[in-house]
Amino acid sequence: MLPPYHHEPFTDFSIQENRHSFEKALLQLERQLGREHPLLIQGEEIFTEEKIISYNPAKKDEVIGVVAKANKELAEKAIKSAEETFHTWKKVDSKERASLLVKAAAIVRKRKHEFSSLLVKEAGKPWNEADADTAEAIDFMEYYARQMIEIAKGKSVCSRSGEANEHTYIPRGVTVTIPPWNFALAIMVGTTVAPIVAGNTVILKPASNTPVIAAYFVDVLKEAGLPPGVLQFLPGSGEEIGNYLVKHPKVSLITFTGSKEVGTYIYEQAASVRPQQTHLKTVLAEMGGKDTIIVDKESDLDIAVDAILTSAFGFSGQKCSAGSRVVAHEKIYDQVLEKSVQKAKELKVGNPALHDTNVGPVIDQSAYDKIMHYIHLGKTEARLVTGGKGTDATGYFIQPTIFADAPPTSTIMQEEIFGPVVAFTKASHFQHALDIANNTEYGLTGAIISNNRSHIQQAKEDFHVGNLYINRNCTGAIVGYQPFGGFNMSGTNAKAGGPDYLLLYMQAKTISEKF
Ligand code: SER
Repeated sequence: MLPPYHHEPFTDFSIQENRHSFEKALLQLERQLGREHPLLIQGEEIFTEEKIISYNPAKKDEVIGVVAKANKELAEKAIKSAEETFHTWKKVDSKERASLLVKAAAIVRKRKHEFSSLLVKEAGKPWNEADADTAEAIDFMEYYARQMIEIAKGKSVCSRSGEANEHTYIPRGVTVTIPPWNFALAIMVGTTVAPIVAGNTVILKPASNTPVIAAYFVDVLKEAGLPPGVLQFLPGSGEEIGNYLVKHPKVSLITFTGSKEVGTYIYEQAASVRPQQTHLKTVLAEMGGKDTIIVDKESDLDIAVDAILTSAFGFSGQKCSAGSRVVAHEKIYDQVLEKSVQKAKELKVGNPALHDTNVGPVIDQSAYDKIMHYIHLGKTEARLVTGGKGTDATGYFIQPTIFADAPPTSTIMQEEIFGPVVAFTKASHFQHALDIANNTEYGLTGAIISNNRSHIQQAKEDFHVGNLYINRNCTGAIVGYQPFGGFNMSGTNAKAGGPDYLLLYMQAKTISEKF
């Protein structure tokens, strides 16, 4: 019997002892950098000629690690292995599958700072963001283990006299997991262990920017006792391997987190039934966001500023949940803007390995170029009030950037930038603010800062987002507390970390026996 679920606490880095142990972990990690990691098929570790090299985005020439790179032949082998192993894995008792996740969670918890320091190095996360990423990974394992035990009980249905009816859930088959680099541990872990605990077999194609942390986690699952063939670790290019996997007739389900462009492409490809395919594929897609913070006329402006800064600049704005638009009532607009600018200027941009860094790098050259392009464009659409500069000399650093007076339909108010950029716009009344907030193609997160009960109620009803936050930031959903996922072009509303999530990896079977 497992104790009740509670989320993993965050490390308090104001305590000197915690800072020292994190610094020690970072130093120890230095000695592990540059190692080569194999791919994994049917329990066999395979090193390949071709490789993916992972670099530190804060220090472009520092190699984090080297990972084997799969080709189509290896992808085919991985699918065969997953297909074969499915027949045995689906029969393993769900309690046993759940206990494997609890073991893996314990292993990661023990090595928490090691994983977090790898996130600092490989993803460029400041300490607190890295620590939260690792905590969330632990949460996914602990939470899904418990959810699986519940689901295995089935749901009750009626039976007439002389019959016994059962309503049960069974796994779907071969799952392809394509996680993002921005929650390189948490989302990768969540979207890998959810199908596994539900009885599916998995092919994990890690993000090419952060394959090393995924390789570390694959070792954790092995150590926890995951049988060979349940998980294939298949780093490779999206275009070659990702495409091959998505189109493959033996794949039952694809769980993807990333851009709208790739997500909609996968959705479309998965809809085509190909020769030898005997089922319709399911796609779980968690895509982008263009998330708004509404600041009402009657509100606590310090809470508003704190929410804006955390949402816009946490992990350099590289979250689909990031608050990249602020809609403030005209009465308090100038004040909120001014205070936000002042606070943004105080943020320290730099090497995330240093404890006092607030804003680290963006992930790579193409992200840097894309964000700088939006900043350039923003200057033609709105008024740049702070930031706007970047350097890609040694790493990819961009200053926290605020634009004021952005027209609600301008590009910087509509398109996902995925960088430390936030645009402000003015609303004349609350309904106007809500209308602006809802005027994008996305519907992921949103926040309202208000002391007006009727406005809060109105937002609960009409702010069309999957995750609505009141009087706080719009990032940092906690597994088991705030199930996460959005509407519209933000994705299929899978609600990761929620009570219904595992069911998405399963199908219902009703059995009726007459006696
Ligand atoms: N779950 C994360 C958040 O809420 C985003 O993926 O910020």
